[in-house]
Amino acid sequence: MMPKDYPADMFDLAYTAMKKAYMPYSKFSVGACVKDENGNLYTGCNVENVSYSLTLCAEAVALGNLVVHGGKRITEVVIVASSDTIISPCGACRQRFREFCAPGVKIHMFNQKGNHKMRTIGELLPESFDTENMI
Ligand code: THU
Repeated sequence: MMPKDYPADMFDLAYTAMKKAYMPYSKFSVGACVKDENGNLYTGCNVENVSYSLTLCAEAVALGNLVVHGGKRITEVVIVASSDTIISPCGACRQRFREFCAPGVKIHMFNQKGNHKMRTIGELLPESFDTENMI
């Protein structure tokens, strides 16, 4: 059941990105869409590597696209995976997001059927190490 409070445009873009995933090893596709402070949207898909550990997560690719196109902050995130379970971002990507997200930023997570779960980045990464810890 699709909730009304999810960003449909971001889901569509993330789903399209997911279809482009390069995943010859895991056969598991992930797409991501991030929104910047001006409402611009950027996408990413996972890009695997034969060395496995060099694999890029969809979230990291989307984040890199935001930065290279001039985005400064992330205001909303959508992730969709080619599975029936709803995935949530890996630990490394939670920390990547935290660099550019206020704690209240919504991370919308979807499975391939469009089932949805939402958590804030603060919920996914509580008591995080962020730039304020460096002061
Ligand atoms: N993957 C992502 O791209 N994002 C996640 O949040 C979880 C996992 C990718 C990495 C790898 O290519 C595949 O999914 C299986 O782990």
